[in-house]
Amino acid sequence: MLKQKDLLGLYELSAEEILSVLAEGAKLKAALRKGKKQFSDLAGKSVVTLFYENSTRTRCSFDLAAKNLGANVVNLGVATSSVQKGETLIDTGKTLDAQQNDYMILRHPVAGAPRLLAKTVKAHVINAGDGMNEHPTQALLDFLTMQERFGSIKGLTVAIMGDISHSRVAKSNLYGLKKLGAEVRLFAPSTLMPFGLDRMGAKICRTREEAVEGADVVMGLRIQLERQHAGAFPSLGEYAKYYGVNETVMKYAKKDAIVMHPAPVNRGVELTTALIDGEQSYIEDQIFSGLAVRMAVFKALA
Ligand code: CP
Repeated sequence: MLKQKDLLGLYELSAEEILSVLAEGAKLKAALRKGKKQFSDLAGKSVVTLFYENSTRTRCSFDLAAKNLGANVVNLGVATSSVQKGETLIDTGKTLDAQQNDYMILRHPVAGAPRLLAKTVKAHVINAGDGMNEHPTQALLDFLTMQERFGSIKGLTVAIMGDISHSRVAKSNLYGLKKLGAEVRLFAPSTLMPFGLDRMGAKICRTREEAVEGADVVMGLRIQLERQHAGAFPSLGEYAKYYGVNETVMKYAKKDAIVMHPAPVNRGVELTTALIDGEQSYIEDQIFSGLAVRMAVFKALA
């Protein structure tokens, strides 16, 4: 289903490839909903996860997705591995390739690290988030949730609000949503808005209300405290007051609009707790979509 050996980003996938993964993801999600968890598509295959950054959702769902498909899975504990003795990513990759691993799932703080690994190893490499570049499976799971809720991505208006500058989720969503025919609006404090995303098809909004007006989807993004340079905004309290999404801001969206967030969420900062836990929230559904879509990605590369 995917032409490439690896899944490195949505920038390089066609609309047809994205839609084919979503179609398979929808079938798998329906099966999971009925309680079916055992498949044999990856029987006899080996999957290794390498996370050089922390993760809960992505790592667990790749692990579960591979096991559901019948693979053997090794989670390399980077903190207790030879990476701590100075082993390079290339040498780690060669080692894992020599052990006949079929898939390597990499999260790394440096943009481009999955591409370097993919050039080095025979295994399929899946990008689980590289620096401020891309997080393709997060965007695919977001699309699965949107598609299931609205029937199609084409024609949707998606407002993405928060720390756009540091967000690989925003970039993967932008690349994919534009290919699928959605309007993408971006809103952030000007200190957290990179230059050039308008040239990728995004509408850059100057106010929260402009971004949310008539939107079908309002997606909050985490303020990435670990990547912040001092002075991007005065305090988290001021961020919440002037840039966060709250119930008043949501009144500008369509009546049946949904609230999304890749999580983890800074509660009360980018979204209010009432929105996170409210009826419009699809955050838990996104996590469920993540399991199905990652199973679909394994199958698409097989
Ligand atoms: N959304 C996401 O990537 O979450 P984790 O960092 O927990 O994997």
